[in-house]
Amino acid sequence: MNQPLDLQTVLDGFDAVWSPRIVANINDYDVRLARFSGEHVWHVHENTDEFFLVLDGKIQIGLREPAGERVVTVGRGSVFVVPRGTFHKPSSREGAVVLLVEPEGTLSVGDEHDEVPGHVDVTVGHRGEIA
Ligand code: NI
Repeated sequence: MNQPLDLQTVLDGFDAVWSPRIVANINDYDVRLARFSGEHVWHVHENTDEFFLVLDGKIQIGLREPAGERVVTVGRGSVFVVPRGTFHKPSSREGAVVLLVEPEGTLSVGDEHDEVPGHVDVTVGHRGEIA
């Protein structure tokens, strides 16, 4: 990709929730754009942190930490990083648009996960917006 990519144009091209589109690469990292709505699934990325930037709406991320379980709310214009090795479950009651940054090949449901519901796409990100 050697041209600017308008994220709204990408968003206009898909409706599926929990089905990230790869919009850019930085070194060996993907930048992915996703719609969140309803609940994702508890999962863990053993070897990578996961970066979330909420572009629109609001998300909740359940976290299982040594001290117990908690939920963080991440609103539009806010960022959050889930540390590697931490079980987490993203959700969005109101719907959201989120930019994620993670290594290429990172599976959306992590290395270990609960049973994946039908509305959750198991993917390393859909390519096609960029060459
Ligand atoms: Ni994750």
